[in-house]
Amino acid sequence: MQLFIDSADVAELRAAAASGLIDGVTTNPSLIAKSGRNMKEAIAEICSIIPGPVSAEAVATDVEGMLNEGRYLARIASNVVVKLPLTENGLRACRTLSDEGIKVNVTLCFSAVQAMLAAKAGAYFISPFIGRLDDKGEDGMELIHDIRQVYDNYGFGTNVLAASIRTPEHVKQCALAGADCATLPPKIFAQLYKHELTDSGVAAFLKDWASTGQSIL
Ligand code: E4P
Repeated sequence: MQLFIDSADVAELRAAAASGLIDGVTTNPSLIAKSGRNMKEAIAEICSIIPGPVSAEAVATDVEGMLNEGRYLARIASNVVVKLPLTENGLRACRTLSDEGIKVNVTLCFSAVQAMLAAKAGAYFISPFIGRLDDKGEDGMELIHDIRQVYDNYGFGTNVLAASIRTPEHVKQCALAGADCATLPPKIFAQLYKHELTDSGVAAFLKDWASTGQSIL
């Protein structure tokens, strides 16, 4: 499964990229606002740090505006993926941009039928939001399973990019459900390394090693 970082903070992204484990980045207008950066400059810098797909979201709500913004964003760098909302206009713009060879990440997906429409519109990624469904008492993970099944039933090539991830358990469940990618806040990515038995195991090995008085080098 590919791991993306959900952030527009360049320092956070550099730190995560140093792991050698990061395949891409997702941003959204809220994350750009939080970064305090000019969007074009931030996206260009992020694209130079992470060679994989970097999602940059259009904010127009009409088709023409989405097309203009999408084409502009796609020119920032060759690895930009244009993010569009799962609205009727968003999917119309998705069809056109996809036909032009621009990759589109259709975002704010909350149902399997929405995901099916996005696939039919040529989306490169579909972003189902797990945490926001959980927040309102629904089962976000069920949506990942449902989309996987619909896509596999019909051979849709759209990549399932699980989003709005809140816990390492979400990541595990996404991997088991066959999501192609998951985008994680940096804090959740850092938590993936952690297990108390790893920490206590390292401590015990080091204590026993110290008792030998040896050094390897
Ligand atoms: C993904 O593309 C979104 O930017 C993100 O995962 C949204 O997460 P949130 O629901 O925690 O804001």
